[in-house]
Amino acid sequence: MSDISFSKEVARRRTFAIISHPDAGKTTITEKVLLLGRVIQIAGSVKGSFFNRSVRSDWMNMERERGISISTSVMQFPYRGSLINLLDTPGHADFSEDTYRTLTAVDCCLMLIDAVKGVENRTCQLMHVTRLHRTPVLTFMNKMDREIRDPITVMDEVQSKLKLICSPITWPIGFGKLFKGVYHLYRHEAYLYQSGKGHMIQEVRVVKGLNNPELEIAIGEVLAKQLREEVELIESALSVFDRHQFLQGTMTPVFFGTALGNFGVDHVLDGIVDWGPSPLPRYSNERIVTAMDQDFSGFIFKIQANMDRKHRDRVAFMRIVSGKYKKGIKLYHVRTGKNLVVTSALTFMAGDRYQTEEAYPGDIIGLHNYGKIQIGDTFTQGEKIKFFGIPNFAPELFRRIRLCDPLKQKQLLKGLVQLSEEGAIQIFRPLNNHDLIVGALGVLQFDVVVSRLKNEYNVIAAYEEMKIVAARWVTCNNTSKLQEFQRKNATYLALDGSENLTYIAPTMVHLSMIQERYPEIVFWKMREH
Ligand code: G4P
Repeated sequence: MSDISFSKEVARRRTFAIISHPDAGKTTITEKVLLLGRVIQIAGSVKGSFFNRSVRSDWMNMERERGISISTSVMQFPYRGSLINLLDTPGHADFSEDTYRTLTAVDCCLMLIDAVKGVENRTCQLMHVTRLHRTPVLTFMNKMDREIRDPITVMDEVQSKLKLICSPITWPIGFGKLFKGVYHLYRHEAYLYQSGKGHMIQEVRVVKGLNNPELEIAIGEVLAKQLREEVELIESALSVFDRHQFLQGTMTPVFFGTALGNFGVDHVLDGIVDWGPSPLPRYSNERIVTAMDQDFSGFIFKIQANMDRKHRDRVAFMRIVSGKYKKGIKLYHVRTGKNLVVTSALTFMAGDRYQTEEAYPGDIIGLHNYGKIQIGDTFTQGEKIKFFGIPNFAPELFRRIRLCDPLKQKQLLKGLVQLSEEGAIQIFRPLNNHDLIVGALGVLQFDVVVSRLKNEYNVIAAYEEMKIVAARWVTCNNTSKLQEFQRKNATYLALDGSENLTYIAPTMVHLSMIQERYPEIVFWKMREH
């Protein structure tokens, strides 16, 4: 492939995730994005029909039963000449780790805000992560068909709570029952909303120009007058969109609409295509790797076991950073130092997967994993570099796992190791006994593990409470000091799923005392994979 066509393929990629507080409408907008991307032909009540369930990005039993999205999935589709990779993230706070790691694999985010409720907790937490990476963020103010709060107040909240300058691109015409559409401040066109058409791509009526008398006919004199006044006010008082600031992660373009009514979603998708970054460079320990580098490189941000029950396999999700994947490519697995010929990488569409012949920076491909690949691993064509920034957080909740059928010990261990490789939970094996301790950041993770052990590994297990309040990975530059520490504190030491030495503390006081007593030992709350 020539350099020109490689550059073109890179330039047309957009890789993004949607972040929001639960119930803001993420599932609904994802469905509408898929509709606009012609991945599906018709959208209905997501929770109501089997068809829609099959396109939902969450495919596992428990997610379906509980109506929550737990795992991350990937969807690729063309839109207006671009190729979009949409990475779905779990909505529930108990699965934050998975979400944080997914955010390392995207180049921009769509922040969805329920305009009735404003900026909510979970959005703040996730935005904190995007700030760490300076990820550009677009904003969609959802549920304009409901009795929302004043748009200026909600934008003020974004500015004050999230420290993002808001620059409206569209402006709502009325809201609730009187929601008539949006005025595009840069195209100078009013797009008129019709309710009840959310299940399909709408033929939207457009009125060109703010002073067009057709506007009165379309939305009535009162709303037309109000719109003109508001547009005058916001054009003088609010910031003009500046792409540079957006790409720096300091300004967010704001769009209004209703995901349920499939109205305004195309505007924000246009924003991603027109202004969103093409695949961004990533930092490694040696150098910054750009998408245009000809040699292939990528990193693993997620591992998912048993995605397809028929195949019973594990898939490692890789974000391609540079170069081109071509079927049969020889990749160097930097951590293990081994080479790997990849002939069957996968691309994804919600629950479905296809073998891919080629893939480019920004794309997510799936590699079959037979237990050798870990989250955070770097693959190259020979260069010994390691990409940074894929975090592993110390769990905050701990339980001892107990088998209901003692003969299944081997399967239990296998299941737990695989689930911990995925990052679904973490396991710890104390140095001094045969306990198996499960560590999690959210309570729901425990339930998921028991449910998956049963469904995928045929193991019935239960938990017992135990007195551990914190885990810290321990390292020390001085080997003899570390050995001494290990000898004296073996009761409180365990190995995690990747054999890293971990201190498991029964109380926080205990932990601080130990930290004081051993100043040369580093106790890590976060670990790079
Ligand atoms: P989530 O994935 O972010 O958790 O949210 P989800 O899409 O499931 O939406 C949460 C609720 O908000 C759903 O209602 C959904 O229909 C509704 N919703 C989403 N977008 C809009 C919108 O633009 N306008 C209005 N009025 N509602 C919207 P539900 O009653 O919880 O579920 P359902 O019975 O409607 O499926």
